[in-house]
Amino acid sequence: MNYEAVPLEKAYELLNAGGLVLVCTHSDDGRYDLAPVAWNCPLDYEPESRVLFVCDPGHRSYEDLLESGEFVLALPTPEQRELVERTGSASGRDLDKYEAYGIAAHKAEAVDALVPEGVGAWLECRLLRVVIEGSSAIVLGSVLRAMAAPEAWKRRLHYVREGLYYRPGEAL
Ligand SMILES: Cc1cc2nc3c(=O)[nH]c(=O)nc-3n(C[C@H](O)[C@H](O)[C@H](O)COP(=O)(O)O)c2cc1C
Repeated sequence: MNYEAVPLEKAYELLNAGGLVLVCTHSDDGRYDLAPVAWNCPLDYEPESRVLFVCDPGHRSYEDLLESGEFVLALPTPEQRELVERTGSASGRDLDKYEAYGIAAHKAEAVDALVPEGVGAWLECRLLRVVIEGSSAIVLGSVLRAMAAPEAWKRRLHYVREGLYYRPGEAL
């Protein structure tokens, strides 16, 4: 293989191949929000699954989950790329994304959040804690309830960098 040096500010992209999640939240004043987050991963599976994601503390969804202590991670499919791009380029501070973009959704059961219709799976989570590192917040959550379509991993939308998405290939 021919390797080439990767600029340090781009090195993160080499790890940034995981599936996207939509972080779905609600605020104290009753507004629902959702925001795509690419930097997410599992943390543990015993005694229950725990997860983490990296979040800009300036996001409305971040403020919401701090207030409410809960959130949903919904897994968008490749067909939902437009939904991802729309919800990721506006803030719930400025508009109700569900209303503005006509996002059909149903209520989660274990937490108060709206799950967009058509996602491959979702995880309803309780906030465990937040770790601040520099200008990033690492949000840790514990899964209270999870629902998935068959072979949900095949239905995920993966994001590498702006303009570059992919769908998973075959199992090996
Ligand atoms: C494909 C994609 C991936 C993103 N990944 C992240 C991420 O990992 N962490 C993050 O803090 N923001 C991420 N964002 C940005 C937020 O989704 C975006 O700023 C959003 O508008 C925040 O909305 P809010 O203010 O309503 O919470 C991503 C956006 C897109 C489009």
